[in-house]
Amino acid sequence: METRNKEARYSRIYEQLKELLTKTDFEISRMSTIAAVLHHKMDYFFWTGFYLFINDELLVGPYQGSLACQKLEKNKGVCWAGINQMKTIIVPDVHQFPGHIACDSRSNSEIVVPFYKNNKVVGVLDVDSTKLNSFDEVDAIWLEKICKLI
Ligand code: SME
Repeated sequence: METRNKEARYSRIYEQLKELLTKTDFEISRMSTIAAVLHHKMDYFFWTGFYLFINDELLVGPYQGSLACQKLEKNKGVCWAGINQMKTIIVPDVHQFPGHIACDSRSNSEIVVPFYKNNKVVGVLDVDSTKLNSFDEVDAIWLEKICKLI
C-alpha cells in the first residue's frame, strides 16, 4: 500500500476505534475489537492479534486469522524479541529472522509492537503478511498509537 493511502487508512481506523472503545474498560474486549477492525480494514494483514505476557510466558490473546500457536517458546522468535528489547520490531523477511516461529508457513513479513500498562509490559500486537516487506515506519507509528487505546 502507498504511504499516503496507508496514512489515510490508519487515520480513519484510529478514529473509528476511539468511538468503538467507549463501551468497556475490559482489556480482552478492547483487544478483540482492535484485532477485528485492523484485520478487516487492512488488506495486507494476514494474521492480526495479541500475545500476552503472563507469568513469564507469551500466550495467545484475541486474534483474527488462521490458527495460531498458543504459547511461544521462551526467548525465541519475533514476539519475544519485542518483549525483551521493549521496542517495535519490523521484519521485512521472516525467513531471515533467526529463531522466527512460523505458526503459519504462508507468513513472509511481520511487525511486533509491545505495549505497556503502568510501565510494565502487557504483551505485543503481532501482525503477519503473506508478502515480503509489508511493514514500515508508518505501520509502526500507527500501531503503537493504536496499542495505547487498549
Ligand atoms: N512469528 C511469531 C509467532 C507468532 S505468529 O506469527 C502468529 C514469532 O516469531 O514470535
